[in-house]
Order: sequence, then structure tokens, then C-alpha cells
Amino acid sequence: MNPVPTSMAAPPAVPFVAASAIGKSYGGAQALHGAALSVLPGEVHGLVGANGAGKSTLIRILAGLTQPDTGEIAIEGRPVAIASPHEASALGMSFIHQELAFVPDMTVIENIMLGLPKKKTRLGLVDWAAIQRDVAPIIERVGITAPLDAAAKSLSTAENWLISIARALVWKARLIVMDEPTASLSAGECRKLFSIIRGLSASGVAVLYCRTGWTRSSICAAASPSCAMAGRSRSSRVPS
Ligand SMILES: Nc1ncnc2c1ncn2[C@@H]1O[C@H](COP(=O)(O)OP(=O)(O)OP(=O)(O)O)[C@@H](O)[C@H]1O
Ligand SMILES: [Mg+2]
Repeated sequence: MNPVPTSMAAPPAVPFVAASAIGKSYGGAQALHGAALSVLPGEVHGLVGANGAGKSTLIRILAGLTQPDTGEIAIEGRPVAIASPHEASALGMSFIHQELAFVPDMTVIENIMLGLPKKKTRLGLVDWAAIQRDVAPIIERVGITAPLDAAAKSLSTAENWLISIARALVWKARLIVMDEPTASLSAGECRKLFSIIRGLSASGVAVLYCRTGWTRSSICAAASPSCAMAGRSRSSRVPS
């Protein structure tokens, strides 16, 4: 077989998000020093490190909650300054923090739509029937089986995780960042989450999966086939 001429070779893939030389200090403590991250569309990465390694700091920078002291971030090759969570969302990133953002007294569908623009009827009321029709394929995709009018407080932590993932998909996130997703899930619930993550990856949604510590069973199953370790020892960066 003839080799593909150089001129016809596929161009190198552009990462959905690329961060380089990220530095962040809090007083005397350097939380991040020269941190780099590159996530292609549909890739699943594990952001793994010891307590204090800087994982949450890096996530907070991507989320627009904290500004880095140094470094650059590019989305699809375009340098960006992420000044606020609103800007992070507009750039296609969705963040699921360990403390899940949901309102216990609201229903499943109201929680999925939390903070998202909602279709209105001609009378200016929220058109929940239309919203439910629009969201139905996403609900099926992430495997939410609870009734959409059930109160979120009646659901398990795992089911509320699914609500957060559904919210990210309604928002059409290209990257979903999950902070310590398995911390409060059972082994069976973790397997379900890993299967959802593989499905997200197959549909081109990238996942950054943050986890303290490292064991094969805790992350590799989710992060296959692409897993990049990040984080570092904190001791060398914190003055005594
Ligand atoms: N707002 C803050 N003010 C002062 N120091 C902070 C702040 N946020 C983080 N740090 C420090 O920065 C370093 C990195 O913290 P970070 O929370 O990013 O680590 P982590 O990898 O998420 O740790 P963990 O596994 O415990 O969640 C730590 O030394 C931490 O004490
Ligand atoms: Mg953290």
C-alpha cells in the first residue's frame, strides 16, 4: 500500500481545552506550578493527585472561579481568559462538584433545568411539557428512571449525580469536569457512572475526572482508553 502523501495526512487534532504553564499561589503556598493539561474532544482524563496537589485549584481556574497567576488556556486552539463561571459555561465546560448543586425541594426536571434558559408558552409561563419532550432523549441516555416530578430530596446521591450530568448535556457541554464522583457512590453505582462516562466519550463529550489518590479500580475503568495523570507532590512547593 502506498503511504498517504504528507499533504493529505489528517491535520493534528485540536484539543478542546489546553492549559499550559499554569501557576497559582495563595500567600506563600504554591498551589500550582507549571501545570499543563490537554484534553481532546471525547477524551476521558483522570486528574489524580494527593491531598493538596492542586486538583481543585486547576478545576476552579477552568471554571472561572479563580484566576491563575501565570499560564494560558485555549479552547479549541483559541486563547481565552475565563473570568467567570458564566464564561466557562459559555465556552462549553460544565462542572459537577462533590457538593452537588441541586435544590432538594425542587423536582427532577426543575433540577435538570436549574440555571438553564427555559422554553416559555405564549403566555410567558415556563413550558414544562415542551421541556420534558426536549430533555427526554438525554434522560434516557443517562439512565434517569425516577419520575420527573419526584422531589430531588427523595433520590439517592447517585441519582442526583445523573441529574447533574443531564444538566450538563442539556447545556451541550463539550467537557464535563467531575470532582471526586465516586466518593459517595456504591460499587454498583460507580460501574454505572463509568458506563455513562464511556457513552459520553463515544459521543464526543470529554470528561475530566478528578480523584484523590490512585487505585486501578477507582479510576482506570472510567478513564480507559485515555488516562493522563496530573497533580504532583505538594511538599516541594510549600515553604516550611
Ligand atoms: N482559597 C485558598 N486559600 C489558601 N490556600 C488555598 C486555597 N485553595 C487552595 N489552597 C491551597 O492550595 C493547595 C492546593 O489545594 P487544592 O485544594 O487545589 O488541592 P487538591 O488537590 O484539590 O486537594 P484535595 O485532594 O484535598 O481536594 C493546598 O496547599 C491548599 O491548602
Ligand atoms: Mg480538591
